[in-house]
Amino acid sequence: MKVLGFESSCDETGVALVELAAGGTPRVLGQALHTQALMHEAYGGVVPELASRDHIRRVLPLARQVLAQSGTALADVDLVAYTRGPGLAGALLVGAGVAVALAAALGKPALGVHHLEGHLLSPFLAEPAPQFPFVALLVSGGHTQLMRVDGVGRYELLGETIDDAAGEAFDKTAKLLGLGYPGGPALARLADFGDESAFTLPRPMLRSGDLDFSFAGLKTAVLTQTRRLGQNVCEQNRANLAAATQAAIVEVLVAKSLRALDATGLERLVVAGGVGANVRLREQLDAGAARRGARVFYPPLALCTDNGAMIALAAAMRSTSGLAQASRDGSFDVRPRWPLAELARTTA
Ligand code: KG4
Ligand code: ZN
Repeated sequence: MKVLGFESSCDETGVALVELAAGGTPRVLGQALHTQALMHEAYGGVVPELASRDHIRRVLPLARQVLAQSGTALADVDLVAYTRGPGLAGALLVGAGVAVALAAALGKPALGVHHLEGHLLSPFLAEPAPQFPFVALLVSGGHTQLMRVDGVGRYELLGETIDDAAGEAFDKTAKLLGLGYPGGPALARLADFGDESAFTLPRPMLRSGDLDFSFAGLKTAVLTQTRRLGQNVCEQNRANLAAATQAAIVEVLVAKSLRALDATGLERLVVAGGVGANVRLREQLDAGAARRGARVFYPPLALCTDNGAMIALAAAMRSTSGLAQASRDGSFDVRPRWPLAELARTTA
């Protein structure tokens, strides 16, 4: 089956065509992405109204690009997928509206997908793909969760952040260090030139004994350090603080992920979401898992952050698992707040 997927939950407009062959192996036939990062940078974060308007401008040209790239006619699309939530209401409505209208015009079904399920299943677009069951570490700008995944739609929450998400911790500390938005990649680049031992930062909830996270205190600790340095925050100190911040976030994420493997007895860890692009995180997870005889699976690097391919894939996997409630009547809604646990409850 060929699925055309639309992602517009935040500041990226993503469109992709994914084919799921009978054997279950997915293939990205075409994809296009427009990131609004530069547009929002001046404001230090995403401005919802600007995001919605930009999605409107980009979505159809991107869809045309994907179809041309893959040499596919609209009539050959079997299912149109879109991000139903969670995310910014106005931004979600653009992708959902376009997808459902397109499906209705084509006489094809439309299916709304949970954004995090898209991230969760995105490692199936990599080679080799993981097998169920696995532990998933979801680390994005809005979420930090550890899940046990037994199959499509069979998700059990093991732990999550009680305040800021890991990506948010990267972004907020990056802002304190005067780096642009989104700060994660910039902070990671700066950290390469720093000495992480130059500053001692807390490892929040490292020894809490559970699988929950907390990152808000880290931001406060970095703020305290930057205030202490005042005007004297030289290039080297900024790099040192970036390195210390990255080290603190990564250490906690790695420790809890490995604890989740121990607690479940599973040997596969899947990492998804924007922070999964972080090289230091990947190195340490790989090393820690290898010591346990476990293995870590990632989506292709370009598909770690938001994209249309993961939405198309999640829709394809849902519908071939018989879990989907694709609609054909042109009706739709969006769920700006939509806990993944709710999705698991309704489909487990
Ligand atoms: O999954 P995603 O694209 O969007 C959400 O659904 O939130 O994740 C974006 C987050 C941002 O916070 C960004 O700073 C972070 O992922 N990020 C990184 C890196 N690349 C993206 N954080 C640390 N290191 C990176 N290399
Ligand atoms: Zn995301």
